[in-house]
Amino acid sequence: MAAKAGAAASFIFMLFLLNIACQAQLSPAFYDSSCPNALSAIRTAIRSAIAGDRRMAASLIRLHFHDCFVQGCDASILLDETSSIQSEKTALGNLNSARGYNVIEKAKTEVEKICPGVVSCADIIAVAARDASSYVGGPSYAVKLGRRDSTTASRTLANAELPAFFESLESLISRFQKKGLTARDMVALSGSHTLGQAQCFTFRERIYNDSNIDAGFASTRRRRCPRVGSDATLAPLDLVTPNSFDNNYFKNLMRNKGLLQSDQVLFNGGSTDSIVSEYSRNPARFKSDFGSAMIKMGDIGLLTGSAGQIRRTCSVVN
Ligand code: HEM
Repeated sequence: MAAKAGAAASFIFMLFLLNIACQAQLSPAFYDSSCPNALSAIRTAIRSAIAGDRRMAASLIRLHFHDCFVQGCDASILLDETSSIQSEKTALGNLNSARGYNVIEKAKTEVEKICPGVVSCADIIAVAARDASSYVGGPSYAVKLGRRDSTTASRTLANAELPAFFESLESLISRFQKKGLTARDMVALSGSHTLGQAQCFTFRERIYNDSNIDAGFASTRRRRCPRVGSDATLAPLDLVTPNSFDNNYFKNLMRNKGLLQSDQVLFNGGSTDSIVSEYSRNPARFKSDFGSAMIKMGDIGLLTGSAGQIRRTCSVVN
């Protein structure tokens, strides 16, 4: 009995050491010797995509978020449907909404030309999100590297784990907490709604039925988002400067001009009001917290060491 317990204890200890060893492999210098030009190749591909379509910066940041929240940051979001893979691309939060798959595939193709089979799609998504942020005026930060790609995806998990625009503050906080992120991280990350667009169906309820909304703002948004129809018509998440990464998003919230219900709940008399007001006064603090929170988000549920694989094409397993 004692011998069994001892064996179990040493097995658990081995797992613990293995875990530390895997964690230790994530480092900004991971490809320094195996593919020294990987980061510049990715940056070139990302910059050229955003130069041609400014909104792509927003889409790439969101893609990293939607990857990390489902099975961890393992590029599962990029896998296409097959007989054995349930693609996440058709999950509620992604269908006709997530963008940038081809941009990541293009960056991957460029990287494969210089070092085949070395750089994971999961790392490319993480680097692309950082490059997107810095290109449009957001923070740059050192992305830790060494993630590996999954051989599976899960639409079921994507439907269950991606937050929805109608959720309460408590529910959102608890979702982020389950991923190891604090309410402060969540507010900072939501600040990326300083960029990009949302479809009419995601804010219709808010502009017709909510009371915590600026009347002028609601009536402007109603013009292009009728009670019925035009579901996919877009409106900027930050009404002032949707193409640059600044702290206007937080200033909007303080004037009841958040577009989504899940935006306005961050400033609606609850526990995160003080964080929103801090970021509205202190853009430098917002940017530095955003960078730290992105690094933290990039650590969710990693495959490292010999787990998973380095996909040759991001949309299919090898
Ligand atoms: C707090 C929970 C969140 C909810 C409920 C939420 C919900 C949404 C919704 C409904 C849209 C519009 C999608 C569409 O209409 O097609 C959107 C867009 C966006 N979200 Fe979030 N989001 C959340 C957090 C985040 C986080 C943590 C990030 C990044 C780290 C993020 C980044 C973005 C960006 C950049 C866009 C614009 C995308 C584009 O224009 O392509 N969001 N979000």
